[in-house]
Amino acid sequence: MKKNMIKKFTLGIASVCALGLILCGCGKKSSDNSVQEVKDNKTLTIGTSADFAPFEFPIVKNGKKEITGYDIMLAQKVADKLGVKLKIVNTEFPSLISELQNDKVDLVLSGMTKTAKRAKVVDFSKPYYTVENVMLVQKKDADKYNKISDTKGKQIGAQQSTTQEDIVKKQMKGANLVTESVTTSLATELKNGKIDGLVLENAIANNYVKQNPGKYAIAKVKLTTGKDIESYSVAAKKGDKKLIKVVNEVIDKIQKGGTSGQMLQDAQNLQAKYGK
Ligand code: ARG
Repeated sequence: MKKNMIKKFTLGIASVCALGLILCGCGKKSSDNSVQEVKDNKTLTIGTSADFAPFEFPIVKNGKKEITGYDIMLAQKVADKLGVKLKIVNTEFPSLISELQNDKVDLVLSGMTKTAKRAKVVDFSKPYYTVENVMLVQKKDADKYNKISDTKGKQIGAQQSTTQEDIVKKQMKGANLVTESVTTSLATELKNGKIDGLVLENAIANNYVKQNPGKYAIAKVKLTTGKDIESYSVAAKKGDKKLIKVVNEVIDKIQKGGTSGQMLQDAQNLQAKYGK
C-alpha cells in the first residue's frame, strides 16, 4: 500500500517535471536569444545591397575587393560592442527582408527606411540618418525639371521595392516609372540617357554629383518626403529586441559624439580613393 503511494507520488512529480520541460522548451523558442546567438557564432552577419554609396559600396583596396561605407562602419561598431567579427552578405535590396526572415543574416543595414509595411514583418532600430528625396538628372538637364508636371511622359527611374518607387508612383503620375533591382544600373542608364531622371535620397544623389562632377545635377523639382520615410534604420528579425537594443546603444553613442558626419566623410574619401 505504502509502496504504491510512493510510486504514485514519484509518477506525479515526474509528470510535473515533464510538463515543466515542455513549457520551458516552448518558451525558449519564442524567447529572445538574438544577442547570445551572435556571440555563440562569434560573428555578426549583416545583409546589405552594396549599390548605395556612400552607405554601402564595393572598393578594391590593396588588390582585395571589399564592401565599405557608412552602414558598414556602423555594423562594425555593433560587432565590436558584441566582441565578434563582422560578416557581410551582399544581396540586392528587394530580397534583404526575406534574407532576414529566412535567418540568413542577423541584421540589415542598407539605408533602409522603416515603413509601416516593413515594420509588420521585421523590427527596426531608432533612426540613424535623416534624408529627403530628390531627383538626379544629367548635368545638361539641371534646369529642365522644376515642377512635377515637367516629368510628364519622361522615363523616371527608382530602385525596385524602395520608398523611391512609391514616390514616383504617387507623386509623378504622368511619368513612366523604370525600375531596376540595383541602383547603380539606374545611374548608368541616366548617364547614357536611357532614363531622364532618377529619384534618390539626397545623401545618395549628392554623392553622385560629388563623385562625378560634370555629369550629374540635382533637379529643382520638389518631392514630398513624408515624416514616416525621412530616415534610415537598422532592421532585425521580428522579436530580436535584445539585438536592437545593442544597435540603439551604438546609434546613441554616434549621435552623442557627433561623429555621424565624419563617418560619411570617411566613406566618401574611401570611395574617391578606392572606388571603382
Ligand atoms: N531608403 C530607401 C528604402 O528603404 C532606399 C534604400 C535602398 N538601399 C540600398 N542599399 N540600395 O526603400
